[in-house]
Amino acid sequence: MPPLELSDSAAAEELAVGELEVLGRMHYASNATFLARVRNNGAEVAAVYKPRRGERPLWDFPNGTLCEREVATYELSAALGWGLIPATVLRDGPLGEGMVQRFVDHDPEEHYFTLLDQHADHFRRFAVFDVLVNNADRKGGHCLRSRPDGGILGIDHGLTFHPAWKLRTVIWHFAGERIDPVIADDVCRVAQLDATVVDPLTPLLSPLELEAMQQRAAELLTTGTLPEPEPGYHSVPWPLV
Ligand SMILES: Nc1ncnc2c1ncn2[C@@H]1O[C@H](COP(=O)(O)OP(=O)(O)O)[C@@H](O)[C@H]1O
Ligand SMILES: [Mg+2]
Repeated sequence: MPPLELSDSAAAEELAVGELEVLGRMHYASNATFLARVRNNGAEVAAVYKPRRGERPLWDFPNGTLCEREVATYELSAALGWGLIPATVLRDGPLGEGMVQRFVDHDPEEHYFTLLDQHADHFRRFAVFDVLVNNADRKGGHCLRSRPDGGILGIDHGLTFHPAWKLRTVIWHFAGERIDPVIADDVCRVAQLDATVVDPLTPLLSPLELEAMQQRAAELLTTGTLPEPEPGYHSVPWPLV
């Protein structure tokens, strides 16, 4: 378990440079997903490692790009100061280049549907975030409550940033609600392609994907509300958790 005092950026630094060791394979994963640990100067960070070559090909996303998308969601959340995604880096490892993400110590019985009542404001932010990143797979079980500090963190962001609208999520509770002005200010930075937002994303996403993100942000600001499910589109993932 990562020590509590390790900040996100410090954890990202450890994950990027430390020695990566695979400990085992995660069950119920669609891609080759491994539990790992990263050690550096006596510090140890538990991690999840998804090598690019273990990614299952999909019809709608270019092959071998899911790990970049996972890192891009972390970078966007970090640039906005939203803290929704555990530190995630792109790096080499025993099974080749892939994404390495801080492991979140959590109770596997908890998920979106059990956490919603107590953490509604957190999920309002997730709802906006998932529009920005165009999350095509926000299952209830992709929202974890971190045991050390109680924060709600999202995982499994390989299916994001597609240029075509693909929002598929369980978080429809706030559809049609007005977006909080403080959150809207941050969305503005995305709509304006602020350098602090775009620079970390540029090596990870295509120009078309960045432009589509900007348009989704602009659309959120124009309507001022969270979108409703698209009629005729399969807007909910399966399984739900
Ligand atoms: N950062 C993380 N912290 C804790 N558990 C994780 C983390 N990332 C993934 N997991 C666990 O591993 C399982 C598989 O990971 P997931 O991201 O769903 O992989 P896949 O890309 O194969 O769908 C998840 O259901 C969850 O239990
Ligand atoms: Mg998954």
